Amino acid sequence: MSTREFEVWRGDADGGEFVRYEAEAGEGTVVLDAVHEIQRTSAPDLAVRWNCKAAKCGSCGAEVNGKPRLMCKTQVDDLPADRPIRVSPLRAFPVIRDLVSDVSWNYEVNRQIPPFTPKPGAEWLMQQEDVGDQPLAYLNRLSDLLFVLSRWIGHHLGEQEYLWERPLEREAERARARKAPA
Ligand code: FES
Repeated sequence: MSTREFEVWRGDADGGEFVRYEAEAGEGTVVLDAVHEIQRTSAPDLAVRWNCKAAKCGSCGAEVNGKPRLMCKTQVDDLPADRPIRVSPLRAFPVIRDLVSDVSWNYEVNRQIPPFTPKPGAEWLMQQEDVGDQPLAYLNRLSDLLFVLSRWIGHHLGEQEYLWERPLEREAERARARKAPA
C-alpha cells in the first residue's frame, strides 16, 4: 500500500474547484475504491454515483486525468505516480454535484429506440449450423477491422496500447522491484 494524491472536483452547476485528498492504494485498487476511501476518511459529503462495481452499468463514469473512464475499472497503478490523479465529472453531461452528472438524456434516447419486434412467422436461426460459416467469418473480419481501427485512433491520440503496453510496463516495474536491493 502507498499513499496517492488525488484532486477531486467539488462543486455543482454553478461552478467548483479541484480539492486535494489522499488515499491509500495498493495492487488492484481502482479509482472508485480510492474515492470511497476519500468519502470515508475526509469528505463524507462527496457525491459519487456507482452501482455494479463490475464495469457493467456505466454509472461510475467520470474523467480520470482528463479522460472519460469507468472508475471501477481504472486501476490506480496504471496512472502516473508523479502527479495527483485528477477526477472530475464527465464533461459531456451537465453536472449535478461533485462527480455526479445528469445522464437522463441517455434514458430519453433509449425510450426513442423502438423495441425489436420479430416479423410474424419469421424463421429463427439459433444454431451455428443453421446460420452457416459465412456470417461468422464476416463478423470475425469486422471485429478485426474495428480492433485495428481502435488501435490506430488510440495511437494518434497518444494513448497507451491498452492490451500490451500497460501489462508489459507493470511487469517491467515488478521485475525492477524484485531486482532492487532490499
Ligand atoms: S459501477 Fe457499474 S460500471 Fe462502474
